[in-house]
Amino acid sequence: MKKQFEDIQIELIQGDITKASVDAIINAANKELIGGGGVDGAIRRAGGPEVVKECDNIRATQGGCPTGSAVITTGGNLFAKHIIHTAGPIWEGGIKDEPTLLSSCYKESLFLAAKNEINSIAFPSISTGIYGYPIKKAAHVALKTIKELAESRHKIPTTIQFILFDDITYNNYVDVLTEL
Ligand code: APR
Repeated sequence: MKKQFEDIQIELIQGDITKASVDAIINAANKELIGGGGVDGAIRRAGGPEVVKECDNIRATQGGCPTGSAVITTGGNLFAKHIIHTAGPIWEGGIKDEPTLLSSCYKESLFLAAKNEINSIAFPSISTGIYGYPIKKAAHVALKTIKELAESRHKIPTTIQFILFDDITYNNYVDVLTEL
């Protein structure tokens, strides 16, 4: 499914983000940048040792990537030249500022992409796996954040894909984007 907000094209695709043909993919990382399972494990395996090395350097020099922020590394062996790693919030029932932190992941990733002259990017569904954020709520935060940035004419990549792994996640994002 595709939808345009001002000059920003949003595409929802079901699949594996490590195969994406874009300038940069986003990784749903953790704030320590230590690597995990889920999409993080898949991206690190496909990107290879250069990606792990750069994450280790960022951890050593700046202590990691606080929840809601983003850092950039090479894409290593991926088609994508860059990986933007962002740490989403762990869902704790919605009382720990989770929506603001999740929105910040999308904003900071998009601003970091724009700063690096990146025009096309692909996001996974941040926080909705191991971190337990309810999918429909997360889809709403993700897509509304991008819609608002597009409407306020922020400089962000003009092609924004969401590469969603499973049927339930894909269908939830389609429902939310249809209504926005
Ligand atoms: N491509 C696209 N999406 C994927 C892929 C893939 N190859 N593999 C998994 N996913 C999906 C999951 O199905 C889920 O919908 O990514 C979404 C996010 O799930 P997680 O990877 O569990 O990420 P998150 O909930 O943000 O938890 C982050 O998990 O791997 C660790 O180091 C990571 O500690 C961090 C935590």
